[in-house]
Amino acid sequence: MAIKKAWGGRFKKKTASSVESFTESISYDRRLYKYDIEGSIAHTKMLAKCNLITGKEKDVIIKGLREILSDIKADKFKFKTEQEDIHMNVESVLVKRIGNVAKKLHTARSRNDQIALDLRLWVRDQIKDVVGAITNLQLEMILKAKVFGKGVLPGFTHLQHAQPILIGHYFLAYVEMLERDRTRLGDCLKRVNKSPLGACALGGTTLNIKPEITSKLLDFDSPFDNSLDAVSDRDFCLEFAASLAIISMHLSRLSEEWIIWSSQEFDFLDIDDSYCTGSSIMPQKKNPDVLELIRAKCGRVYGNLFSLLTIMKALPLSYNRDMQEDKEAIFDSSDTVKDCLIILKKLIKKTTFKIDNIERSCQKGFPDATGIADYLVKKGIPFREAHEIVGKMVKKHSKSGKELSDISIKDFKQFSPLIDKDIYETLGVKNYIKQYRSHGSTSPKLVQKRISAWEKKLQKLIG
Ligand code: ARG
Repeated sequence: MAIKKAWGGRFKKKTASSVESFTESISYDRRLYKYDIEGSIAHTKMLAKCNLITGKEKDVIIKGLREILSDIKADKFKFKTEQEDIHMNVESVLVKRIGNVAKKLHTARSRNDQIALDLRLWVRDQIKDVVGAITNLQLEMILKAKVFGKGVLPGFTHLQHAQPILIGHYFLAYVEMLERDRTRLGDCLKRVNKSPLGACALGGTTLNIKPEITSKLLDFDSPFDNSLDAVSDRDFCLEFAASLAIISMHLSRLSEEWIIWSSQEFDFLDIDDSYCTGSSIMPQKKNPDVLELIRAKCGRVYGNLFSLLTIMKALPLSYNRDMQEDKEAIFDSSDTVKDCLIILKKLIKKTTFKIDNIERSCQKGFPDATGIADYLVKKGIPFREAHEIVGKMVKKHSKSGKELSDISIKDFKQFSPLIDKDIYETLGVKNYIKQYRSHGSTSPKLVQKRISAWEKKLQKLIG
């Protein structure tokens, strides 16, 4: 027997099975079941408070919904493609179980406000999960910075040695990036946390409902202000997807660096065997595949953002079935980014910095040159002239294989008579690092302070 559709009344013919399988969303929106049922329970309570159903009817409906919830959790619920989506799967089974009273549940509600609600509730929870994963990753970075943070790392610009920095300073940079990601999600949450329930199909309803009741019951900050906007809006999904894309971009930058740093040419890092994979043909290989995949997954996270933007582009108000296509994209972005945050945290824990190799590498390329320029500035020479003088030193010595600290004081004086013996206090990467003092710089004192402050803050956040 053909399954009865909730919207079947005006149809003469049964839906083609190819149309059913083309239009269904239950295969993926079933993961919204918890939110769909929570929303229905809140809606039922509101209907009773507004005298649209009786207290007894409310109890029967809620009991039925709770039973469905526990059946789905226990994997005892049969989802049906013919029932299209999560809303109709739940409702049709409710009718079967508790009879006609179940048909009152959809009073003053449309699937248009229902799906907007489910998705907002889901995004809200996902934001909490992603924020948690970010905080854990930040803390792991701080813990690593505590172990290796005093080591000196070549700081790069244009992937060329630029100035020496502390490994601690490097980690702090990522902690800052992740902090922006964390707080960006917090900001996004403000706009997610508005209830669309009660907007109905698009124009509200002629029935006397109170959307502020469901809003409160579901822990939203407030209900929607415009019913047309409430069912048409997917900005909250876009914002979440964009925030995830930025996180993914940040992770891809670290991944790329660590892939480069674990190459034979750099040899700065040792990633534990358990976090690398091998080659099926070259027995000697140990590959940083986890990092490569984090780098690559950025592609699908960007792709999902562009899918969502494109789905919404030029879409006339209000609800259109196009919007069903938002789900797989946003689900995938959230799953992917969470996976990446979690695995990267574990990988960082299992990675050691090869301090000797890194410090040896720091000597290359006159990393302390800017220090001499600053030294000359302190002696009153305009920076541009100081730059020129040091440039000449580098030109002369780049062929000799000497480092700047090997230059004799006599030689230095030929470049500028203002140079004295105290120049050696700024030469060599370790000395140079000690000279840093400006706000937010790689100054060892400041870096230590920041590491301790972050550790405290993050431990508190994690609780
Ligand atoms: N499965 C639909 C979606 O995800 C639910 C809303 C359907 N509404 C409708 N009027 N066809 O968007």
